[in-house]
Amino acid sequence: MNKNAFRQLSYGVYVVSTWDKGRATGCTANSAMQITSEPATIAVSINHDNYTNQCIQDTGKFAISILGEHSSPGIIGTFGFKSGRDSDKFGEVEQTVKGFLPVVADACAYIVCEVIDKMETSTHTVFLGKVLDADMLKEDAPMTYAYYHNVIKGKSPKNAPTYIAE
Ligand SMILES: Cc1cc2nc3c(=O)[nH]c(=O)nc-3n(C[C@H](O)[C@H](O)[C@H](O)COP(=O)(O)O)c2cc1C
Repeated sequence: MNKNAFRQLSYGVYVVSTWDKGRATGCTANSAMQITSEPATIAVSINHDNYTNQCIQDTGKFAISILGEHSSPGIIGTFGFKSGRDSDKFGEVEQTVKGFLPVVADACAYIVCEVIDKMETSTHTVFLGKVLDADMLKEDAPMTYAYYHNVIKGKSPKNAPTYIAE
């Protein structure tokens, strides 16, 4: 199997967020996709070891902040290379509450979902979310995963579904 073929799939760069007993938390994710239009449903794939997974299981809700090319690249690092278990990520990144969920203020759009189903794989939970609210936050081109790799020169850690060992 040539895993380089997987690198030809296109994604965006997002922060998937929720509450941790009243405190905002979340993680960087590329694995968000729209499943249906009416009713609007979205899926995300979150590693079992990510604290965000446990928090989404507890709250039954998640938000997706769609990062733009002008969003601070530091957001991806804060949410993608630290764990909410031992760090207060939204203490470092400005948040705004939309549809009763915390989202990244410096994003170009957000989508708020209620978990209506989930599927377990050996490493990740695929959460299926019914969209409760969505809106634009600012004018910006949404950041693609290719932009993150080619322009920002970012990396993907082991818990990202797209991780390929060197
Ligand atoms: C660009 C990028 C994409 C990522 N995509 C995902 C993803 O789709 N799903 C996932 O579970 N983790 C993904 N990760 C990894 C998590 O963001 C990372 O493991 C994070 O530290 C988990 O934080 P938490 O323990 O607070 O949930 C990604 C990380 C980066 C930098």
